[in-house]
Amino acid sequence: MIIKQIITIVLLLTLSQADIIEVQLQKQSLNNLHHQQYSLNTLQEEVKGRFLYSSSKQSVDLSHLSSDFYIATVLIGSNKTRLSLQIDTTSSKIIVPTQDCIKKSKCSILADYYNCTQQDGCTQDYQQQTKNYFDGLVSGYNANTTVGVSGLFQTKQSIFLIKEAKQSISGPASGILGLSVNNLDNQKNSSFVTILYEQGQIPRNMFSLYLGFSNIFSSELTLGGYNSKKLENPSEIYNHNISINNQKQEQQWIIPVQKIQLDTFSNTLNPQNNLAIIDSTYPYLGVETGIYQAMGDYFVQKGAKLKDKFYQIDCNTNLGDIQFTISDSNSINRNYSIPFSFYTEKSSDKCKILIQSIDLVDNIGLRFGYVYLRRYVSMFDYSNKTVSFAQSVADPDDAKFPTWAIILIAVAASILVLAGIGYAIYRCRMNKKKTEYSQTLLSNTSI
Ligand SMILES: *[C@@H]1O[C@H](CO)[C@@H](O)[C@H](O)[C@H]1NC(C)=O
Ligand SMILES: *[C@@H]1O[C@H](CO)[C@@H](O)[C@H](O)[C@H]1NC(C)=O
Ligand SMILES: *[C@@H]1O[C@H](CO)[C@@H](O)[C@H](O)[C@H]1NC(C)=O
Ligand SMILES: *[C@@H]1O[C@H](CO)[C@@H](O)[C@H](O)[C@H]1NC(C)=O
Ligand SMILES: *[C@@H]1O[C@H](CO)[C@@H](O)[C@H](O)[C@H]1NC(C)=O
Ligand SMILES: *[C@@H]1O[C@H](CO)[C@@H](O)[C@H](O)[C@H]1NC(C)=O
Ligand SMILES: *[C@@H]1O[C@H](CO)[C@@H](O)[C@H](O)[C@H]1NC(C)=O
Repeated sequence: MIIKQIITIVLLLTLSQADIIEVQLQKQSLNNLHHQQYSLNTLQEEVKGRFLYSSSKQSVDLSHLSSDFYIATVLIGSNKTRLSLQIDTTSSKIIVPTQDCIKKSKCSILADYYNCTQQDGCTQDYQQQTKNYFDGLVSGYNANTTVGVSGLFQTKQSIFLIKEAKQSISGPASGILGLSVNNLDNQKNSSFVTILYEQGQIPRNMFSLYLGFSNIFSSELTLGGYNSKKLENPSEIYNHNISINNQKQEQQWIIPVQKIQLDTFSNTLNPQNNLAIIDSTYPYLGVETGIYQAMGDYFVQKGAKLKDKFYQIDCNTNLGDIQFTISDSNSINRNYSIPFSFYTEKSSDKCKILIQSIDLVDNIGLRFGYVYLRRYVSMFDYSNKTVSFAQSVADPDDAKFPTWAIILIAVAASILVLAGIGYAIYRCRMNKKKTEYSQTLLSNTSI
């Protein structure tokens, strides 16, 4: 009897060690930052540096700029310094600032930093290196320390410490949680997620992303699996083999796409431009310049006007779904469609089309940012080297739900939960004598 119980407990413990981990992501908007001592200069530099690549002579109207960031809280070092990091599927590293960086104006927007010391279990080398930080450059050092996220043990990971930034760093995050395929500075080139898997902390060598529209309690990074509650139809998940880049550069989450279509507009992609990169930091749908111009002609024909680098159209003119045809790992063509409400943003009576032109680099002609990732929950499998998509339950109308209402509901829910716990404790106390009595009875009969 007792042995059986011990076995059950041990089994439960080992099983629960490798549970799927859900990490709540905070969605923050650049717009909100105006209220948080956000310097206009930084913003302008970001606009030029990051999202609007093509040389523009017209000045950028900042009032039209809204961009969201999906942020996770990560604990670094044995003292568990809390840092808010932006989830980045295109970066291989965890990148965090040092105090040196914060003290300089180009990092000044960042509030938190990491102090890499021996007492904190951190070792750093002193060979200065330069790394991409979004579209800018930063310099600093490699270090090894421990990193954890909610509910997980700290695991040893290689990180990059920013000492200095070449362009102003901006945005509400204090760094990057890189989730791309490999981290060349870790043993066996293992990514952050692969290390969690190898140490038995998560059941599968994968993660998935649910990006919602609401500002709180919505978006999720799921480690070791996916949250089927976020899928419109859990039986419809399709896997796509990533395109292996033969180690010319760091392996990215890239998949070949056959076709892009929107009503009468249609473009069949070719091997020179058919790769789509999955980018959890990119607010738009990026298409290579040639396709962008052809799409733009179509939008204009439908009555759209180019304003501040975005096509704008009357919200009553529904242009229909943008459709992508992507061949899956069984060579079956799958259709993915993005409705009008997912690829536009309403400002007064005009709808801004969230499509931007990107430069064609390494045959990457498409950039699947929030526009795509809010429509489809994305899953990234490191062992099978696949990216999978399933239609998401995310709804653009969620963004309209006021924050105060959500807080009110949350407060009401916690009061209910507390009341429930209180009642349970009360019941427990009342039943204690009874239980003790029945337990004696039980052990008497089973021995
Ligand atoms: C970093 O930690 C060391 C050791 O605890 C301490 O001496 C130093 O002042 C800290 N530096 C910063 C910038 O907090
Ligand atoms: C870690 O925390 C301890 C106790 O709070 C403190 O004495 C120590 O200086 C901290 N170490 C670092 C590296 O921050
Ligand atoms: C970090 O650990 C790796 C081995 O896992 C080692 O090769 C590397 O030199 C270490 N780097 C630092 C800065 O300690
Ligand atoms: C790690 O990546 C490097 C560079 O791409 C490659 O040369 C090396 O063979 C890889 N190591 C392992 C263990 O996969
Ligand atoms: C790889 O795919 C197979 C079948 O699709 C699945 O059973 C397995 O769990 C996947 N591997 C990982 C590490 O998730
Ligand atoms: C995808 O990869 C798997 C495993 O490497 C392979 O068996 C399958 O044939 C590939 N599918 C396609 C369409 O290339
Ligand atoms: C995808 O859409 C095309 C038409 O746009 C259709 O012919 C094809 O059957 C669809 N494929 C699947 C798998 O539904």
